[in-house]
Amino acid sequence: MAPNPKKIAGERATDYVAHDMIVGLGTGSTAYFAIVRLAERIREESLRIRCVPTSERSATLARELGIPLTSFAEVLHVDVTIDGADEVDPAFNLIKGGGGALLREKFVASASDTELIIVDESKLKQRLGAFPLPVEVVPFGWQMTRERLRDLGCDARFRSSDSAPFVTDNGNYILDCSFGVIEDPPALEREIVGTCGVVDCGIFSGLATRIIIGRSDGSLEERAEPEKLA
Ligand code: 5RP
Repeated sequence: MAPNPKKIAGERATDYVAHDMIVGLGTGSTAYFAIVRLAERIREESLRIRCVPTSERSATLARELGIPLTSFAEVLHVDVTIDGADEVDPAFNLIKGGGGALLREKFVASASDTELIIVDESKLKQRLGAFPLPVEVVPFGWQMTRERLRDLGCDARFRSSDSAPFVTDNGNYILDCSFGVIEDPPALEREIVGTCGVVDCGIFSGLATRIIIGRSDGSLEERAEPEKLA
């Protein structure tokens, strides 16, 4: 069987998890493999951990697999989070939110000592922006928010699923914003987040601490040092 790069990256990331850690569980098809492997380690090694999920989807999967969950009502910091990404640049800027979980993902990432990003090689980009940037907006006046985002220079599209609005776990909407090449991700992140009606956006800058890359030839690469971009 051909190697599965997402599985390779996801399973490797769980090696960073040890007894008594609080672990953030990411969302998506790559994070899935990390969650499944953590459940195996809990069974096989009696690994003692408590996990904070970044979405209802990951919470449901974790419960089904018998992974103990906790929340920010009980813990105020996370030791290590394992999450996927839609794009990663050499400076460890990310685009996330393809699965619509960006707000909780950023929340958990910002509370984490270590943020492990697990990807296959297709997610590595020299510059962010080929993947439309997900922006979470409040439903009230979302059309006005879309206009404000368009004024920043993007084509902003309302996300729907089976012709119904896509509603996030937080009861909000998503606008997928195509900016083209994003020259300065941290600056754009600040600008978007400062826009009235925006809850958060899928640019994650300064949060990833290690990138774990699975490749289709079965190999694994890890990057621990972001490159400084000119
Ligand atoms: C969900 C995310 C995911 O991490 C991102 O979309 C990558 O997903 P996948 O691992 O399925 O390619 O940000 O909101």
